[in-house]
Amino acid sequence: MAHVITTGCIDVKDGACVQCCPVDCIYEGARTLYIHPDECIDCGICVSACPTQAIYEVFRLPPALAHYTAINREFFAPEVSGLGSPGSAQDVGPQACDHPRIAQELPSAAL
Ligand code: F3S
Repeated sequence: MAHVITTGCIDVKDGACVQCCPVDCIYEGARTLYIHPDECIDCGICVSACPTQAIYEVFRLPPALAHYTAINREFFAPEVSGLGSPGSAQDVGPQACDHPRIAQELPSAAL
């Protein structure tokens, strides 16, 4: 786990991070995007690309956003998206689901 996407992406999904990611490890869900914890190479280019400052290195996460480490990881599990580690977000395309905790989160514009 290197970088994680947090609340600022919810219902925004700007997409700039996807365009600059050199390893195509940022996957799209229904309301937000998720960084694959094993495919991310920790380059950090996406951090400055995001207009809502939604992306953090995991060790720099504010305590209030700490649960997003699990949210990013668990999105790929069999009981959520079932994607596993496909190796390319572009190949699998947008997913219709989200991590169950995202459904409980307010849109970032409401925060
Ligand atoms: Fe979301 Fe920011 Fe990427 S809003 S899609 S994490 S550029």
